[in-house]
Amino acid sequence: MIITIDGPAGSGKSTVARLLAHRLGLRFLDTGAMYRAVALAVLRSHTNQHDAQAVSQIAAGCSIRFHDNRLLLNQQDVTSEIRMPEVATAASIVASNPAVRASLVQQQQQIGESGGLVTEGRDQGTVVFPHARHKYFLTASLDARTRRRLAELDQKGQPGSWEEIREQIRQRDERDEKRALAPMKPASDAVIVDTSELTVEQVVELLCRSVTPE
Ligand code: DC
Repeated sequence: MIITIDGPAGSGKSTVARLLAHRLGLRFLDTGAMYRAVALAVLRSHTNQHDAQAVSQIAAGCSIRFHDNRLLLNQQDVTSEIRMPEVATAASIVASNPAVRASLVQQQQQIGESGGLVTEGRDQGTVVFPHARHKYFLTASLDARTRRRLAELDQKGQPGSWEEIREQIRQRDERDEKRALAPMKPASDAVIVDTSELTVEQVVELLCRSVTPE
């Protein structure tokens, strides 16, 4: 069984997808982490993120693997590094590159071939797994998502400014929604869940019930 969870940054999809996978005994796939890994390789090589050919070449040389909840880029553990704000912004930029998308979509579909999966991203229900059994699109207001991101940063001891984080998220939404290729949008058969006023546990419970109705 494949369950797709798409949505914007800070909608809670990562945490929800991980917990749902655990509850249902399925594997979990964080596709944003794959775009972040390519972005990190681009940043490390000091390549212009908008240079389509150079970025495609770097992506072609990237080996991306998940192992024990860690992300390995060319055998190196980059799990923490890919969470940096500059990597998030670069990921959103390199994600509009057709060669990068083609390569990552193929890898994601391969992962999906070997059994049950809860997968999260921006295009999982629309492009990567259009025949998934269950599709969800999580949303939340920009303010709610800013609040969550600030709390996350605070927990890591990296306090941020409300205006700065809100603007970063807003710009990323805009780029992810407006790109020509596989823009972020709900699949026509996705269930849309507004998580602004819900806790993570409430969202997981809601999805769990809808996947396995009594
Ligand atoms: O979910 P995230 O914040 O880790 O994703 C980082 C960026 O990667 C996001 O801004 C857009 C891109 N992305 C994408 O284009 N398609 C996906 N399936 C997942 C992420």
